[in-house]
Amino acid sequence: MVEAFAVASGKGGTGKTTSTLALGMALAEDYDVTVVDADMGMANLLFHAGLADVETTLHDVVVEGGAPVEAAVYERHGLSVVPCGTDLSGFAAADPTRLRDVVATLAADTDVVLLDSAATLSSRSAVLPIVLADRVVVVVEPTIPALSDGLKVQEYATSYGTETAGVLFNKVRDDDAIDRIAPKAERYFEGPTLATVPASDTVRGARRAGQPLLAYAPESAAARAYREAARSLSVREGDSGAVADRFRSAVVPESL
Ligand SMILES: Nc1ncnc2c1ncn2[C@@H]1O[C@H](COP(=O)(O)OP(=O)(O)OP(=O)(O)O)[C@@H](O)[C@H]1O
Ligand SMILES: [Mg+2]
Repeated sequence: MVEAFAVASGKGGTGKTTSTLALGMALAEDYDVTVVDADMGMANLLFHAGLADVETTLHDVVVEGGAPVEAAVYERHGLSVVPCGTDLSGFAAADPTRLRDVVATLAADTDVVLLDSAATLSSRSAVLPIVLADRVVVVVEPTIPALSDGLKVQEYATSYGTETAGVLFNKVRDDDAIDRIAPKAERYFEGPTLATVPASDTVRGARRAGQPLLAYAPESAAARAYREAARSLSVREGDSGAVADRFRSAVVPESL
């Protein structure tokens, strides 16, 4: 079985990378989970996962005659993690459309694929995860502009047949009036509110320590919220072969 999720937002810095690793670790209690840094232009999952010094990354795979995918898979924190390099030259040499084959290969041997996505819809590499995933997790801060961007992600995803898994509110402060905003959001988003993750120094501390939140502070309120979100995702048992074929044969749009 396999289901592929894109973790996306529209806006930058909402917590996509943090959320990808946190949801990944929470889901790994029940599933075999692979997380991929599909934000190939502005990759930084490696800093969140303690993989800043690794030799081979996704950039080395998605080039002509590149390394096999397996060379860029690292077993960390109960997850299979595929980090991406941060060099501009690595991105310039990369062919983002090759991500299709990478995910197709990974899908054969895992239950859940989480694609950490870019904060834009304006390049081929940025839209690819949203186009190819089964469902998208929309990570937003509880503000109207952020919701508006999140809705654009949903609209784009829907136009390619990608469903909305739900909305994850992150960096929520007491005065964010989340009780007012969440029900409004549920009217417009096609999925439920997955969780409300508080703004907290613990989450920032995890990043600084180069550890996923659920490894750094597993009992924190934020970690608990991510475990709740993972439970409400109800992973589906997609057929691995069918998912792999879909990824391999997908037509990649030119972007918006
Ligand atoms: N709940 C939170 N409370 C406090 N800080 C947070 C929270 N979630 C994320 N952060 C911090 O916000 C910053 C951005 O988070 P992250 O890198 O996960 O966002 P992103 O959406 O992936 O960003 P980008 O668009 O640049 O890829 C990081 O420093 C992270 O530690
Ligand atoms: Mg990110």
